Amino acid sequence: MTANSPLIIALDTADCDSAVALARQLSPELCRLKVGKQLFTAAGPQCVSRLMALGYDVFLDLKFHDIPTTVELACRAAADLGVWMLNVHALGGAAMLEAARVGAGYRGDRPILLAVTLLTSMGEADMQMIGLSGTPAEAVLRLARLAHACGLDGVVCSAHEAALLREDIGTGFSLVTPGIRPASAASDDQQRVMTPAAAQSAGADYLVVGRPVTHAPDPLQAVLEIRNQLIS
Ligand code: C5P
Repeated sequence: MTANSPLIIALDTADCDSAVALARQLSPELCRLKVGKQLFTAAGPQCVSRLMALGYDVFLDLKFHDIPTTVELACRAAADLGVWMLNVHALGGAAMLEAARVGAGYRGDRPILLAVTLLTSMGEADMQMIGLSGTPAEAVLRLARLAHACGLDGVVCSAHEAALLREDIGTGFSLVTPGIRPASAASDDQQRVMTPAAAQSAGADYLVVGRPVTHAPDPLQAVLEIRNQLIS
């Protein structure tokens, strides 16, 4: 399971030196890394390059959502950066998703392109306020089907939705799940958490874990403990 680890550690740090220091405590043999809006806004592409120079696969979690041309060019820039995975919002619609695929795939060795369906922070009342009908689960399914139809490689979703999506869409479509907590860990501000093995059993391909590792007294030990809980 070495270089092919399903574990993605969210490096939600304020600056690049902290992110690199954390990455040095871990190993690319054990996990991949996720760079999100905070770190990228603070430290930019150079930080992504520094992490990749340590041997890590990087998931660039910037959730692009804009007009199709802008998203195409942003995905192209991410592909040039050499990231392993990136994402856009499915709510951008079919034309935007197709443009994202073109942008990400303009080189032969394209990154894995995911869609975020509905933010897991949104409930039915939040959906109604922005004119979306139905339940969150219905919206997630609708948007995941759209992403699949537009040729994206998978979605970011709650582990609680993984089984439904896996059954509906089938295999060959990556499910990347945040909100993962080892059995012994605190849930922090995540509402609906799942253990690593339960998420994998539900169909998740990749598990995003942040604070249980980044805030651990010994981050490497925390990663090793999570790996011991994985279904290999
Ligand atoms: O610390 P924690 O394990 O909760 O971190 C989860 C990471 O996954 C954070 O970077 C967070 O932004 C991201 N995320 C999430 N829920 C989503 C999508 C992304 O927690 N629905």
